[in-house]
Parts: sequence; C-alpha cells; structure tokens
Amino acid sequence: RKPITLAQLQAMYKQGEKIAMLTCYDASFAALLDQCGVDILLIGDSLGNVIQGQASTLPVTLEHIVYHTQCVVRGNRSAWVLADLPWNSYQESPAQAYASSAALMAAGAHMIKIEGLDQRSSWFTDTIAFLAERGVPVCAHMGLTPQFVHALGGYRVQGKDEASAAHLKQQARAARDAGAAMLLYEMVPAALAAEITAEVGIPTIGIGAGADCSGQVLVLHDMLNVFPGRKARFVRNFMEGADSIQAAVAAYVRAVKDGSFPAPEHAY
Ligand code: KIV
Ligand code: NA
Repeated sequence: RKPITLAQLQAMYKQGEKIAMLTCYDASFAALLDQCGVDILLIGDSLGNVIQGQASTLPVTLEHIVYHTQCVVRGNRSAWVLADLPWNSYQESPAQAYASSAALMAAGAHMIKIEGLDQRSSWFTDTIAFLAERGVPVCAHMGLTPQFVHALGGYRVQGKDEASAAHLKQQARAARDAGAAMLLYEMVPAALAAEITAEVGIPTIGIGAGADCSGQVLVLHDMLNVFPGRKARFVRNFMEGADSIQAAVAAYVRAVKDGSFPAPEHAY
C-alpha cells in the first residue's frame, strides 16, 4: 500500500469509501494496524486512560504525545498519522497551538487534532485558521470533547436539543471555513452527524456518532477488549469471534468499510 495522503482521504469522502481509524501508541501496533489496512493511526490522548491509568485525559502532556508519536511513526509505513494536541497545549493562544503542533509534526505526525468546546466563542476557529494557514493539517474534534469534561459536566451525548444541534452544525461550517481538513464527532446523535457529513464537504470521523460519518474511530484497547474499565455504548469487542489480534483488527476494518459497524445499538 502507498502512503495515504490528505487528497486521498478527501477523495474517499467524495466517493463514500469509509475511512477506518484506530488509536495507536507504539511501534508494534503501528506495524500491525498498518498491515491490516487501517487508514489513519491516531496518537490519542486516550493514552492517559489506557496506557497511563489516569482517570481522565487532562494529565497527558505534549511530551507524552510526542514520545508516542515517535514510537508509532517508527512502526508505520503507509497509514496517515494523526496526533492529539493535549490539554493545555493550545488553549492559551494560536501561537501556543502552533508551537505544540510543530513539535508533533517534527515527531512525525501528518495532522493534528484539536478539541473544541461547544460555546459561542471564536478561539477554536481562530486557532484552526492560524494552524491551517501555516501548513498544519487540522482535524477538529467536536461534540463530546473529553478534555472539557469538567466544563461539560460529564461524558454525555452532545447536540441532543435543537439549540446545541444547530450550534454544532454552525461550528462544523466554521471549522471547515477556517481550514480544517477533517472533523471528528464524539457522542452526538447519528442523524445530526449524518446531516453534517452530507453538507460539510470534508471527511467526518465518528465515535458514537452513527454509521453515516465518512469514517469511524475506536480506542484500540476498547475494541480489543483489553481495557478493564466500563465500556461506552459505542464500543464493539472485535476480539469476539477472532482468533488473533490481526483478525480482530481486520474484522474492524471490514466492518467499517462495509458499513456494518457501527450498528444502531452503538449509536445515539
Ligand atoms: O484520544 C482519543 O482516543 C480520541 C478518540 C476517542 C477520538 O480522541
Ligand atoms: Na483524544
């Protein structure tokens, strides 16, 4: 497989070919996921939960994400590499966000992901524009944004009432107009994510956002049933019926590509 490019991901959106993404934190899994056809490897700050054993993603630092990005890049050959901007590495100013993004890209990331807070404020789109104008490909993470768990009042579905759904739609257009190349929706109603995907013009990746996003992501340790904690509704255990990790990952890629994952029971 040739290295995946942003143009290719955009073409997949246009043609309705589903994009398969998983989180990845080390070189061995990077090689395995790449060989199993995963399109995008996400060095997520979920590593705080599944690698470090933290109660939230807030203790994760830029140095942690840089380290795991370096590890992933050494194992990967062709997947697109997306790295999270962790808590307190981007909110202070666009310049802070740029310096943090530059560190992740120097570590080998192809694109950075930034979380937004569902509120009427321009810092999020201003920051996306600042990065995009300077050659940093940006994925805007919206809906439930775990770094803002305390501001949001818990890990709950976002965009359920009419006002917050309208705001999420407006935020999607604003992020796109600011130059975001990809959107990621976590825990939003499937119908809302479908509507945004149809109209926004750039790929959307969902986690707990229904089957009509352009692609899907899960936390590796959740879909392999390794993480000991309580599972969210949107998680499916792909080790069930698989006799190896490779088989489980291949089943995930197949299920995302043929649209059988997520099923309605994984959505809101
Ligand atoms: O950190 C992470 O794993 C993520 C995904 C849940 C989207 O941001
Ligand atoms: Na994350």
